[in-house]
Amino acid sequence: MAETAKTATLTLDGETYELPVLSPSAGPDVVDIRKLYAQADVFTYDPGFTSTASCESAITFIDGDKGELLYRGYPIDQLAEKSHYLEVCYLLLNGELPNKTELEDFEYRITRHTMVHEQMHNFFRGFRRDSHPMATMVGVVGAMSAFYHDSLDINDPWQREVASMRLIAKLPTIAAMAYKYSVGQPFVYPRNDLGYAENFLNMCFSVPAEPYKVEPALAKAMDRIFTLHADHEQNASTSTVRLAGSSGANPFACIAAGIACLWGPAHGGANQACLEMLREIGTVDQIPEYIARAKDKNDPFRLMGFGHRVYKNFDPRAKVMKESADEVLDLLGVHNNETLQVAKELERIALEDPYFVEKKLYPNVDFYSGIILEAMGFPTSMFTPIFALSRTVGWISQWKEMIEDPTNKIGRPRQLYTGATMRDYVDVSKR
Ligand code: CMC
Repeated sequence: MAETAKTATLTLDGETYELPVLSPSAGPDVVDIRKLYAQADVFTYDPGFTSTASCESAITFIDGDKGELLYRGYPIDQLAEKSHYLEVCYLLLNGELPNKTELEDFEYRITRHTMVHEQMHNFFRGFRRDSHPMATMVGVVGAMSAFYHDSLDINDPWQREVASMRLIAKLPTIAAMAYKYSVGQPFVYPRNDLGYAENFLNMCFSVPAEPYKVEPALAKAMDRIFTLHADHEQNASTSTVRLAGSSGANPFACIAAGIACLWGPAHGGANQACLEMLREIGTVDQIPEYIARAKDKNDPFRLMGFGHRVYKNFDPRAKVMKESADEVLDLLGVHNNETLQVAKELERIALEDPYFVEKKLYPNVDFYSGIILEAMGFPTSMFTPIFALSRTVGWISQWKEMIEDPTNKIGRPRQLYTGATMRDYVDVSKR
């Protein structure tokens, strides 16, 4: 991180403080306030981190105004078109695209880690059948630290590497098991002769009673969904993983924390919430009522799948996802079902409505992903687990980057305290 010749000046109570300005390789300059409290005895206030860079990172870059998303410098649309998920995983983890041998070796290692400890099957059986698969995943991924003791030492690079491989390899198995358990079907073991996305679809949709062949075009669409969700710099769940990891917690515990954060409807849970909203709207003639509700300040309703903290032009993932949705729906012969009609009309109206235009609220990745996943046969409850398994590589890459950074410190925000000042305890008989 380069310090520029520029400084920012803060004047407070007649004193002047010079603050260094850091220059990123892309994006706005960053005012370095690390010494501000020690020098000026003040905190900065930024709930929701709208103006705060919480870390230094070289993994993913977003330009929200241009609608640009880069993984290690490569644009997401190029990766979605030309690359595939495991290559993207290698890129995110290691910083460079692999050569042929490196890629084969990486794929071999991931494939050989896809099975979960057999004892974990019993662990699954402790959950109620009607548990949300995200609830099961938070528990099971957290419990990986109880099964894989030989990859818990975060100070050992080899153990960090093995934990990373295990997480990327086993998350599809765990997500598929959570699904199978929720529908009362037997777990399906991973198969090493199948690709990553193909294997996931097979674990979700095959049953012992009959042969099942994964349609290659669907496996490709699935792989693209994984790629589009693989990382997204310092979003809420990634920041959660970093914060959990900053205390030295083991990687399985940190990823479980990330999954818990992702579950919320303002974040990864939006894909489920969006499809449920489309179903609730039901028919095109109901749309104006929902648009009116979304605009009403006194109504907490929001159009799910619209808006983004960083993208204020368009979400580049949504653009690719929309193309993918058209391909998948064509392939599956889904042309004009009610949900799709509502989605298309809602998108059209929202893109023209001055409220959404002025606030720069565009369809985000979650608007289209649910439509594809539903057409593929996934229930809405599986949408967020699929997001979680795709994002695991991003979380792990960011966690590794943080652990390997010698300047890493435990995350410990301060506060603007507005509670009672010191007062004496009053006995209960006198209250
Ligand atoms: N529907 C209606 N109004 C909205 C919406 C929406 N989806 N999103 C934002 N607004 C309004 C909001 O009421 C506010 O209006 P005002 O300035 O008059 O108070 C303005 O737009 C700015 O919103 P904000 O809440 O300050 O923006 P934010 O950056 O804090 O929130 C967001 C971003 C994604 C949480 C929000 O847009 C939202 O809740 N969207 C729906 C949920 C969703 O689709 N989330 C998925 C995000 S993409 C994938 C991911 O991150 O996991």
